[in-house]
Parts: sequence; C-alpha cells; structure tokens
Amino acid sequence: MSTVGIDAIRFYTPAFAIRLPDLARARGVDPDKYTIGLGQEVMSIMPPDEDIVTMAAHAALPLITDETKEKIHLLLFATESGVDNSKAAGLWVHNLLHLHPSCRVVELKQACYSATCALQLAHSYLHHHPNEKVLLIASDNARYGLHTAGEPTQGCGAVAMILSASPKLLALEEHQGVVADHVMDFWRPTYRTEAVVDGKYSTKVYLNTLQSCWKSYEQASGRRFEDHARFCYHIPFTRMAEKAHERLSKAASIPFNQEQIEHELIYSRQIGNAYTASLYIGLASLLELDALDLSDKRIGFFSYGSGCVGEFFSGVVPEGYREHLGLSFHKKILDRRATLTIPEYEEFFTYTLKEDGSAQTTPNVSAGPFRLTGVSNHERLYG
Ligand code: COA
Repeated sequence: MSTVGIDAIRFYTPAFAIRLPDLARARGVDPDKYTIGLGQEVMSIMPPDEDIVTMAAHAALPLITDETKEKIHLLLFATESGVDNSKAAGLWVHNLLHLHPSCRVVELKQACYSATCALQLAHSYLHHHPNEKVLLIASDNARYGLHTAGEPTQGCGAVAMILSASPKLLALEEHQGVVADHVMDFWRPTYRTEAVVDGKYSTKVYLNTLQSCWKSYEQASGRRFEDHARFCYHIPFTRMAEKAHERLSKAASIPFNQEQIEHELIYSRQIGNAYTASLYIGLASLLELDALDLSDKRIGFFSYGSGCVGEFFSGVVPEGYREHLGLSFHKKILDRRATLTIPEYEEFFTYTLKEDGSAQTTPNVSAGPFRLTGVSNHERLYG
C-alpha cells in the first residue's frame, strides 16, 4: 500500500484579537485565571466582514498552484459554524479559488472532530486515487457568548491541508482507536448562534473519551506510549491539552513530560479555540516550532468532538519536512493582528446579519483578499 498523509498545511486567523488579561479585567476576574488556569494569552476575533468561508479561502490560497488545482478533485470542508443548512461552505471556497470543475465538494459536521473524520476518509480515497490530491479545510468561529464561563475559550481560525499519496509532512499510520457516545456536553441548536455547554462536564467527557480511545488504539496497533515522540491533542484551551497529556502519562505510568506537547500549544495560546481547526493548528505549531528534528518520529493524535466522537491515531514525520512548512506565512498572520479594546470586541461580537435575507452591506474592516461584503436576496456575497 502507498503511504498517504499530509503534504502541506497552512492556517489563517482574522486580523483582530483581544488580550485575555484585558478581558479578565473587564469581567472582574483575576487575569491569572485566563493566562494560567486556562493557558490562553490572546484570542482572535471575527470581524463583521469575515466568516468560515473567507477564513477557509485565506488559509487555502497559499496552497493553490497550477499543479494542485489540476489534481484536487475532492474538497472536504469540516465545520460546526455552518452558514447554510443546505449548501456546503466549500462551494464558495471552490468558487473563490477557481478550483477544478470536476471536484466533489461536501461539508462534514461532528463538533470539533469532523476534520479528523475527513482525514481518514481522504486516507481511503487516496489509496484508490493515488495520483490525485485532496483539499481538506477546517474552519470555525468558537462562540459561547459575552459574560459566560466559556467566553475566554472562544477564538476563530481555519486550517487548510493538501493530502496526497506522497506526503511531505505526515504519513498516516494504520490502526486507530475510535469511540462514539451520546452525551450532551456541548451542542448548538440550529436557532442559536452560540453553543450550549456544560463546560466542566465537557472536560470530564473529553478526558474519559481520551482514555477509551487510547485503550482501543493501543490494543489495535500494539504501539505503546513510549513509541510516540510527541503528542497532539484537541485544544479547546491549552490547559486542557496539558491535562490530557497528564491523564495519558499517568495511565501509562510514565512521568509527565511537558516537552512532548509544549510546541503544539504555542499558536493556540495566541489564537484561542478554532474548534475543528484546533488540532491541526497544533500540528503546524509542533512541526514549525519544535527544535527537535522530528524526521522519522511518530506523533500520537487525539481528536475530540463533543456530543461525542473521539479518535486516537498516529502518523510518522518524513525526512525533509522542514522544507515544506509555512513558518513565515504564519508569523505574518499572527503578527499583523490589531488589538481591540473590550467594547470594540463586543461590537464585533454582536454584529449580526439580518434574518429576513434583505440587502445588507457589511462594514469594510478586513484588509485580506476575501471578504463577506454583504447579503442580497438571502444570498451571501463575497468579494
Ligand atoms: N490563578 C490561576 N488559576 C486559576 C485562578 C487564578 N487566580 N482562578 C481559577 N484558576 C483555575 C482553576 O483552578 C481552574 O483550573 P483547574 O481546572 O486546573 O482546577 C481553571 O482556572 C478554570 O477555572 P474554573 O473556575 O474551574 O472554571 P470556569 O468556571 O471558569 O470554566 C471552562 C472553565 C473551561 C469549563 C469554561 O471556560 C468553559 O465552559 N469552556 C467551554 C467548554 C470547553 O472548552 N470544554 C472543553 C472540552 S471540549
């Protein structure tokens, strides 16, 4: 069988952010609770003229060349912040990026997990179509609401990955541990723009699901904790990933080693939660910022989507991976952000599109090549 996996990865986050100590002071909370207790420093903020489509197009743009355009015949769009109940958000991206007309385009949903399901589906697809490439995009806007316990764990971002049968960044391995269970820890009814969440319960379910997934992965693969050089966990906030690693280390009777996860967490501390994209922003962070040469090293991944589905899987980093990373692109994306005051953030957060579909023009605040310019006759307009 050919090797299949991730060939290229780029993420994007909007040009606005708030500092969590500013939010803490505005909410009458000790800033250490957000920076130490939750492990978050900066949170990206979605402006009125961006959404999951513009973020996705911005993330994918640097990966689209004449060669990839010719070879992409499958676009998988993972999100839990859908903008339409029928049309896949990926179709707007397909149009904005002028992708090949012969292309399957679908949207996948299962809270923060669906990008991992897309990755495994693409894995099988590429075994049968080894000369093609797959474009996988995960894009989300994490919204819990102003003045809620979840507010400091919001954020937004998109990640785009080219998957192929000759991957330059990560070769996926056989054997995964998957668990599905009907739990109500976090969900968002179609009539709401913010999630309903039992936050503390969700952290417990996350950790229990991790342990069950690991057990079944360990049994299926025969791999032990020590066979993995690094671990990437889903990152709703970075302390959660640390707790996950503490739990797994304890279960394996191995002393907790922060070095095994530290570099996965660096970008997320500066962005916040990006739901489906978080785990893969973590992978970009690890590959780009870890001083250890990860060539031929195995990484263990835990993907978690409330509701819930969890999956533990693994991949091996090919030699020469450092030549294919997006470090300078990502540095520019993070450094260009303007810091909003808390009232400015609240104004962005409460901006809404009219629900009667009548004509509306969004304020022109984003400088990027793709903007949500407005709505006309129920149709979202991009420019
Ligand atoms: N200095 C340092 N740490 C502090 C602190 C201070 N002054 N005050 C509180 N903390 C710590 C707490 O001890 C706690 O850490 P611990 O869990 O390691 O004990 C942490 O900060 C959070 O505080 P806590 O009061 O327990 O929780 P909360 O009511 O603020 O809610 C979440 C935290 C994560 C439950 C909430 O943000 C949430 O609902 N988020 C959305 C759901 C989510 O992300 N779920 C994850 C699984 S998908």
